[in-house]
Amino acid sequence: MKKEQKILIVLAVIVFIIYLGIEPLAHMAMSPSVEPVDFAMSDLQSNPANESVVKAERDKVLLGIESASAERGRDVFIGNGCGSCHAINDAKVASTTPPEAQRIKTYGLLPPDLSNAAAIYDEVFMIAFIKDPENAALISNHAKAQKIVFDKQRASKGDDENLTLIYEKTLSGFEEKARDPSRVKMTGYGWLEDDQLYDLLAFFRSVSLPLEAITDEDVTINACARCHTVDYRGIVLEGDEEQAGDPERVKQYLGTLPPDLSMIVRSKGEDYLATFINDPQKYLTGTLMPRVGMKKEAQEKVISYLEQVADPKKGERHRLGVYFILFGVILSVLAYFWKRNEFEEIEEVEK
Ligand code: HEC
Ligand code: HEC
Repeated sequence: MKKEQKILIVLAVIVFIIYLGIEPLAHMAMSPSVEPVDFAMSDLQSNPANESVVKAERDKVLLGIESASAERGRDVFIGNGCGSCHAINDAKVASTTPPEAQRIKTYGLLPPDLSNAAAIYDEVFMIAFIKDPENAALISNHAKAQKIVFDKQRASKGDDENLTLIYEKTLSGFEEKARDPSRVKMTGYGWLEDDQLYDLLAFFRSVSLPLEAITDEDVTINACARCHTVDYRGIVLEGDEEQAGDPERVKQYLGTLPPDLSMIVRSKGEDYLATFINDPQKYLTGTLMPRVGMKKEAQEKVISYLEQVADPKKGERHRLGVYFILFGVILSVLAYFWKRNEFEEIEEVEK
């Protein structure tokens, strides 16, 4: 074997070890894997660990909505005053909805427009949310989630005074950040019967566009812009022109000002977003971001939109990449023939 060939083999082995051994290892250490997103939102069912129970209970709800009455659902909507906070695309309700500015002023942010809720949000989640918002959105879980982390650490590290200190400090941190309880955004409607909730959801379905007909931007605005801005696209906190949502009020309501989402895909990555949106507590224990409860397909639209905003040239770059590689290949072939040609001459001279 020639010397050059040996060098090549050694180099290949080193690159192979670095690329396939160390890089994934570093990746694993830097971002430990989390469980995949649970779009079935099993925790809302009576036995989250049992897949068939979860499926049966979800099917029961979806079947219930199928055979429910949108007409009666509209009555439930009107009768319970949902329209004093939420706009919905229905002639009979529209006239009763107060102006956006007034609603923002009263509630701290603009309650989401529910016209396309049936296409965007998981229906089983919505029913759980209407009955008990804090619990469904995982907001009441700050302290609970932190206690689980603490107990786990204590089990592995023993009764450490330092751990207890950190735990107590974190808890008081939450209390400081916690939402202002006097400004309750949506109280639960725990007394609604299952049948009334199915009717309500049938009403949502009857006014909603299919998801394919809603732009990625509109899905994002509906799901995120009541709390987040997307500066690069001029998306301010939701509200009408003169009275866009007021950051101070949102801060007071949520306990902290949510970050702008323009560059979030670059700073956190798509995978992070994909898991975070439907279970914020999984990554950021104690976070004040609620679970938004999106359908998988709707969430994909949000992520693809945010990707577009953060990295509009990605498609172009990928297309250019192909040409670049092609250029390299052609150049290598030419270089090879050129080299062969030159060396032939040298060999002839040597002879
Ligand atoms: C006092 C105002 C108010 C009333 C009344 C009200 N809501 Fe809400 N609702 C809100 C606010 C504010 C939010 C957003 C909460 C958040 O994201 O923190 C919300 C969120 C929602 C969501 C979206 C949940 C999500 O994130 O996916 C649904 C669905 C909903 N409400 C349905 C209803 C229904 C149905 C009624 C009537 C039975 C109702 N609301 C009554 C204020 C209200
Ligand atoms: C009801 C308000 C609300 C809604 C709706 C909401 N968020 Fe948030 N979000 C927050 C708050 C509050 C924080 C800050 C959390 C903290 O600092 O603990 C946050 C933080 C985040 C973060 C940063 C997480 C981190 O690691 O620091 C991302 C990413 C995010 N939200 C994405 C989204 C997306 C995408 C949507 C729409 C699908 C959305 N949010 C909808 C309130 C909201």
